[in-house]
Amino acid sequence: MNERVEEVLNEQIVKEASSSHLYLSMASWAENQGYNGTAQFLYQHSDEERFHMLKLIKFINERGGVAKIPAIEKPPISFDSMIKIFKSLLEHEIVVTESINNVVDVCLQEKDYTTHNFIQWYVSEQLEEEALARTILDKLQLIGSDKGGLYLFDRDMENSAIGADTVKDQGQ
Ligand code: FEO
Repeated sequence: MNERVEEVLNEQIVKEASSSHLYLSMASWAENQGYNGTAQFLYQHSDEERFHMLKLIKFINERGGVAKIPAIEKPPISFDSMIKIFKSLLEHEIVVTESINNVVDVCLQEKDYTTHNFIQWYVSEQLEEEALARTILDKLQLIGSDKGGLYLFDRDMENSAIGADTVKDQGQ
């Protein structure tokens, strides 16, 4: 496998693993605050990020490279509010998108069209994840600190957590 491509894919493994860890911590915080629907959504999101990491590990190894399982930084334990969680989630996803775009760049520079094809799945996934985070954030901005609104929001999140995303990712 091309060395530069292998290196950026291994860097991407770190990003996906960190995302999974961060969302796991967010899920745990939400659960302790009584936001069970949001917790369910975030636990599922954490699982999806782990799946993104696994997909990279398998791809690197299958192509003759060596996937490196990274140490992961400890995520924050407390998140202050629901809106802060989703602001942070969106910022995090934007960084991940930039990183995926960098993988695309390197694939093109190195003329590695197989990996370029593989990484397109992540390009689409990032588009969806950023759009979803923005939609959730818009809702939370409308609700503000209204407790009834947050209760209904949490119930909606419970429904969305068992919705299309699960089916889509398990089908991969
Ligand atoms: Fe797999 Fe949301 O980055």
